[in-house]
Amino acid sequence: MKKIMVTGALGQIGSELIEKLRSIYGEDNVLATDIRKLEYTKGPFEVLDVTDGQRMYDLAKDFGADTMMHLAALLSATAERNPLLAWNLNMGGLMNALEVSRELNMQFFTPSSIGAFGPSTPKKDTPQDTLQRPTTMYGVNKVAGELLCDYYFNRFGVDTRGVRFPGLISYVTPPGGGTTDYAVEIFYEAIEQGKYTSYIQEGTYMDMMYMPDALQAIVDLMEADSSKLVHRNAFNITAMSFEPSQLAAEIKKHLPHFTMGYEVDPVRQAIADSWPNSLNIEAAQKEWNFKTEYDLARMTADMLEKLKIKLHKKAIS
Ligand code: SER
Repeated sequence: MKKIMVTGALGQIGSELIEKLRSIYGEDNVLATDIRKLEYTKGPFEVLDVTDGQRMYDLAKDFGADTMMHLAALLSATAERNPLLAWNLNMGGLMNALEVSRELNMQFFTPSSIGAFGPSTPKKDTPQDTLQRPTTMYGVNKVAGELLCDYYFNRFGVDTRGVRFPGLISYVTPPGGGTTDYAVEIFYEAIEQGKYTSYIQEGTYMDMMYMPDALQAIVDLMEADSSKLVHRNAFNITAMSFEPSQLAAEIKKHLPHFTMGYEVDPVRQAIADSWPNSLNIEAAQKEWNFKTEYDLARMTADMLEKLKIKLHKKAIS
């Protein structure tokens, strides 16, 4: 990875990944693109609608990119509300990004998700290779995406790589439109209101990961020796598995007056119920030495500390 182009750069993962990549590979070597216009520019940035394959190709070629990180996509709950848009954007964007990578001989990364699994997948210790019959449009997109990436590797030799991300928790950019968003929202409300109403039912376990670990995983996978990778897209990865009341209890250790109630959203609850409780990550550990630093306790402490500073700064500005 020397010259990297990122789509969806203003999204939840992109906004932090750009900073990390620029700190490692140099500011001018990372091209950020997004459908939204950036208010301020620091480093290369271009507006790109990923359904416009020609513009994607032109930008990648002009930049001299050798790596494509394709992040632009609709998350699970938004995709469920507008399945046709999700198909067009998630699959159209991915096909364009794969084609551009094939034509320009670029290394390729795109995230899959725990959403690539469904109700018939083993819920606990979900194996790397197992049944994938998701019941959401997002999941259908993710499985098709995994297969397409493997296809481009096997058929055309494109160096495609990917991970199945769990819910990602961060204090920088809110996720927006995902099923696991509660695990981010709860921190904002805990600090600002002292209470939170969870749309996910008590007892619903999902895998989660803190953003610094997620970003490091992307870099580690992309830098891994290609010959060691038995899998391509996508590796199970996770750092913790919890349900809402466990997260609330952890927050309470820092904010003793914090309380949580429930008002379950049937759409997002049904999605969560169809996803695994905890993934098996042995393939990622074995093939590219996947590791994490943040468990539930460390993540919660860091989130609260950093978010308090951020919200305080916002309040006085
Ligand atoms: N965080 C994502 C979502 O909830 C999972 O990929 O949609």
